[in-house]
Amino acid sequence: MSWNRFTQHYLHLEALGFALDISRIDFPDDYLASMEPQMQSAFAAMAELEGGAIANPDENRAVGHYWLRDAALAPSSEMQTAISDCLAAIASLTARVHSGELQGATGTFEHCLVVGIGGSALGPQFVADALGCPKRDKLKLHFFDNTDPDGIDRTLAALEGQLGKTLTLVISKSGGTAETRNGMLEAQAAYRAAGLDFSQHAIAITGADSKLDALAKSEGWITRLPMWDWVGGRTSELAAVGLLPAALQGIEIDRMLAGAASMDVATRSTETTRNPAALLALMWYYATDGIGAKDMVVLPYKDRLMLFSKYLQQLVMESLGKAEDLDGKPVQQGIAVYGNKGSTDQHAYVQQLREGVHNFFVTFIEVLKDRSGASLEVEPHITTGDYLQGFYLGTRDALYEKGRESITLTLDEVSPESVGQLIALFERAVGFYASLVNINAYHQPGVEAGKKAAAAVLELEVAALQMLRAEPGKAYTAPQLAEALGRQNDTESLFKILNRLAANSRNITAKPATDIAATTFQAD
Ligand code: PA5
Repeated sequence: MSWNRFTQHYLHLEALGFALDISRIDFPDDYLASMEPQMQSAFAAMAELEGGAIANPDENRAVGHYWLRDAALAPSSEMQTAISDCLAAIASLTARVHSGELQGATGTFEHCLVVGIGGSALGPQFVADALGCPKRDKLKLHFFDNTDPDGIDRTLAALEGQLGKTLTLVISKSGGTAETRNGMLEAQAAYRAAGLDFSQHAIAITGADSKLDALAKSEGWITRLPMWDWVGGRTSELAAVGLLPAALQGIEIDRMLAGAASMDVATRSTETTRNPAALLALMWYYATDGIGAKDMVVLPYKDRLMLFSKYLQQLVMESLGKAEDLDGKPVQQGIAVYGNKGSTDQHAYVQQLREGVHNFFVTFIEVLKDRSGASLEVEPHITTGDYLQGFYLGTRDALYEKGRESITLTLDEVSPESVGQLIALFERAVGFYASLVNINAYHQPGVEAGKKAAAAVLELEVAALQMLRAEPGKAYTAPQLAEALGRQNDTESLFKILNRLAANSRNITAKPATDIAATTFQAD
């Protein structure tokens, strides 16, 4: 690795406290020039998107997350007003909660339970972890982000005796997501069991006139905040979805928005070598042959950024993982993303990265500021932070020596601004990459298909339960029940459904047999 190549490909945006180093992706000298026509088309497509074009053709929607941090860019005055009204509502609500003007049944709100999933949870979770501080947080955040009963119980246990001081945010753009509906019903039941009125502790963030919106309205919840159809779930962190929980926690959301806006300005540049999102997209394209041939390992050397890998996993994989391109041609695009944090992961999977199968490139995130305050010297002249950097630089070198490429993002510090920048940077890199490979980054047909498949399984469960409960004590094997229901193709699913029901005191008893086909199930 030459110093020359590093200086040539190190983009330092001083005003942002941000740098991008692409020198350890081994693209040839003429690569950027050869991609310039495609990159200019991507810039043009992005300009159209920001201008309000229907950039999500399958859902016939505009894509407006960039307007959230600069409302003046929104294509209509109604949208501009909607954005600024929403920000004003968040500010006023937060002030009322923090001042104690808006209280729970047993006092000032101290906890906030967020019920949401996917794009309605991952951003809030990342930001809460990156910018929160248990000593300073005004409200402590908790999450129901799954329909796992035990997960729900675990969260409720942490809130035991505190629900009267807990504000619950139910977040769902569609307002009909099953996991979130279930979480809300479980939360409602918990408040009821504690003798509390849920509606006086609940806020909905959802699309206008969704099921959730209608429910919140009819039950008189504290308030409802909007999710617009022109903001996608995974790009909604800087809408009410992410801003309200963060503001309640005590995070300065104006600084997050300012950070994102500053990165938006930098990534609007049509000068490719000065545009970090364009460079990222081009590196992804080069490293993965434009077909996702390699995975992206995200390694932030900073505990606070640990959930960024998870957040990015959704942003990148749900956006880029598509079966067809915009012309309807089968492409099976995507880039697999995984990661956690360094140096911790050096004691886990980095062994394979260094010496095993070569199917990845790394995105390192380096943070210059170690901590607020002085550091202990754990050895003469050396602090824990020095070790952290030593492990990052050492791992990067060791990987590179073995031909494993990497990108490094350098942040001055983890702050609301830099978190906003990271979100904006990757949102736009995903958009550019989608243009380079000609796909729609803004829909998620696979997610919708999963929701339909789950509904079909539940319908099968109800049919099975009705049949067994109609004849208590009558034993069926899974094949017999499938035949009785005329669902022979679903025998395996039926076996698994009944097996789980029997394990959960649902009045179904299993009599296991060595041959699983002979295992019988009956209603008690
Ligand atoms: O990014 C997306 O669109 C999805 O991950 C959604 O956020 C997720 O499915 C949850 O949907 P909703 O907010 O409608 O409940």
